[in-house]
Amino acid sequence: HSDSTYDYIVVGGGTSGLVIANRLSEQKNTSVLVIEAGGSVYNNPNVTDTLGYGKAFGTDIDWAYKTTDQEYAGGSSQTVRAGKALGGTSTINGMVYLRAQAAQINAWETVGNKGWNWESLLPYYKKGEQLQDPAQYPFLDGSGVAFDPAYHGFTGPLKVGWTSTQLNDGLAQKMNTTYQNLEVPVQYNRDPNGGDMVGYSLYPMTVDSELNIREDAARAYYYPYQNRTNLHIWLNTHANKLTWKDGPEVTANGVEVTLSNGTTAVVKATREVILAAGALKSPVLLELSGVGNPDILSKYGIATKINLPTVGENLQDQMNNGLQFDSKTSYSNKSADYVSYPSAAQLFPNSTAVGADLLRKLPAYAAQVASANGNITRTRDLYRFFKIQWDLIFKHGIPVAEILLEPSGTTYDTEYWASVPFSRGSVHLSSADPTAAAIIDPKYFMLDFDLHAQAQAARFIREIFQTKPLADMSGAETSPGLSTVSAGADDEGWADFIKGNYRSNFHPITTAAMLPKELGGVVDSSLKVYGTSNVRVVDASVLPFQVCGHLQSTIYAVAERAADIIKGRV
Ligand code: FDA
Repeated sequence: HSDSTYDYIVVGGGTSGLVIANRLSEQKNTSVLVIEAGGSVYNNPNVTDTLGYGKAFGTDIDWAYKTTDQEYAGGSSQTVRAGKALGGTSTINGMVYLRAQAAQINAWETVGNKGWNWESLLPYYKKGEQLQDPAQYPFLDGSGVAFDPAYHGFTGPLKVGWTSTQLNDGLAQKMNTTYQNLEVPVQYNRDPNGGDMVGYSLYPMTVDSELNIREDAARAYYYPYQNRTNLHIWLNTHANKLTWKDGPEVTANGVEVTLSNGTTAVVKATREVILAAGALKSPVLLELSGVGNPDILSKYGIATKINLPTVGENLQDQMNNGLQFDSKTSYSNKSADYVSYPSAAQLFPNSTAVGADLLRKLPAYAAQVASANGNITRTRDLYRFFKIQWDLIFKHGIPVAEILLEPSGTTYDTEYWASVPFSRGSVHLSSADPTAAAIIDPKYFMLDFDLHAQAQAARFIREIFQTKPLADMSGAETSPGLSTVSAGADDEGWADFIKGNYRSNFHPITTAAMLPKELGGVVDSSLKVYGTSNVRVVDASVLPFQVCGHLQSTIYAVAERAADIIKGRV
């Protein structure tokens, strides 16, 4: 098929890419090609099993990207997982469906992205969603799951709901009582997907409740539509770089690919090339195509087509840790989708002082991030972003941490992370060879507030387990345990455990940021790459700031809106 031509080429058949391909191919006269490096995982039990989280890790459907050795975080490298399959990372993720705090999305507009705010994105969250009302499923009786219909869609492609293994033994209600009994109570929040996440909630997942299998982007947006004659997918096909048309404008006219048989070909696009290869790949594809920092490109003999030095910068992720406690009850093969989102006032006993101290440090943080990348991102822009983030935390009261409780066997596992770390790193190519691993450096824990918030979340979890009724239901803390990190330990006392045991939270974003060009943006508010006439990025790379919640719901919504932008409807 090497001489084929399509209207649109979508690079990456993952979470965002399949939304775009689906919506563009609704137009009968429009041909769409999706190029996907992985294959179909429709019948892969490591994907479909709703209790199989982690089974796909390290298999051939996991890119398992490696970071550089993390100098601020104990010195070792981290593995950042990402799905290599039709459906992308939605085929291996934790299926959690949690959006963002409204104020966080509003900040996208505040920083200069006209038209991007909670009010304009909420219809797209709903458009994609098919919430399965828990009242229809007797196995959810007594589980405590709930939702507010005002915030949900019921007719979209993506099934959202709960599994048949949802715990319904009263633990959800006991957790609620525990949160109410804290010295600073965390209130019950019936639906954390309505723009206010703060509180204790039971969250929905991307799951087919009827069949009790994972709902991924391919099941939602591709398989039911695979008979469309204008929708084409090339699986096991690796995109290497964009090809450019001759002429005064910078216009992409195709993509060079390596086919499954190992041969190289160029496939032509007459309208647009849309990058949806994920936050750790799309910026690298831009660099391989000559769009990026000329100093980096020239090292690998790549001619600069567009001088856009912030490509691959601003990489943000979160850091995930866990505490474990003995449980007096034995749990087997159950899911408990219990989350709490404390605000700064709830997490920090001295929130005002913490805020004042952080505010004083922001100029130095901005300078440190800028100098780490040779001032490619500028101190004054970073200061502005950090001040917006500070306002979100200390004025708008967004959640500053996420705490998940997962009973398993005779253990209460917790997973937690500070929601909005300040540290920023980068991803860049390491070679002109498109199959070479990129240099990924998230700079985990570069800034001390990130450790402070992570340590405070751990202290908060200890407090929860000392509060009734959970205190009566649980036993000793088995990890890290009081002999490893003493009661009342300061940040220094927590640092070894946190840095020795954290992992990537697998939420990398902002590597092709949607921001005004003068603030270091890579794409404009129509998601078009600056300097090009027809190249867009639509995946996690474009999110300008980290969101509380998890990424997929927001990525689906952004891609839904992007499709309307491309169609000229927004
Ligand atoms: P995505 O990774 O989905 O798509 C990129 C696609 O491009 C992939 O299919 C890839 O194979 C393909 N590709 C890459 N390079 C290519 C090339 N050169 N040529 C062709 N194809 C190429 N979020 C959430 O909301 N709830 C959760 O519970 C979790 N849990 C979670 C667990 C784990 C383990 C991970 C790794 C991530 C999560 N996430 C999550 C995050 C969330 O799943 C993730 O952010 C999105 O799925 C990313 O969507 P994108 O469209 O950006 O990329």
